[in-house]
Amino acid sequence: MRLVLIAALAAVAFPAFAQDGAALYNAQCKACHSVTEASGPAGPSLKGVVGRKIAGAPGYAYSAGLKAKTGVWGDANLDSFLTNPAGFAPGGKMFVKVAKPGDRAALIAYLKTVK
Ligand code: HEC
Repeated sequence: MRLVLIAALAAVAFPAFAQDGAALYNAQCKACHSVTEASGPAGPSLKGVVGRKIAGAPGYAYSAGLKAKTGVWGDANLDSFLTNPAGFAPGGKMFVKVAKPGDRAALIAYLKTVK
């Protein structure tokens, strides 16, 4: 019974979380980014960014700072980048910070849905 309740709560809670992420994305990220194949007006495409190589969107001219980073984007490095992009990649050209941990988690959950 308790397990059923937890599963039901998770099913209700998770889509709400992803929706918050979409709203945050539209308010704070969409001015520069896109979630289609094409780059956004001022930043790389974020379609499929989770699991993609850092600075890996084809055809986008990244800063030397971000290109110097190795690895793929996942929960931990996205959280660190969104907390303070200049601290994550000195010399990078994104300056938007997301101060609240809950907002960063919701944005990352949303980015996982834009494949
Ligand atoms: C004012 C424009 C602007 C806004 C707003 C913005 N970004 Fe960016 N973003 C950039 C630029 C420019 C880059 C490329 C950075 C570089 O090359 O150093 C970037 C890079 C990124 C990357 C790395 C992508 C890759 O392919 O490696 C992620 C992830 C990202 N932004 C997420 C976000 C999120 C999430 C938001 C909203 C909270 C956001 N950005 C808001 C301009 C912006």
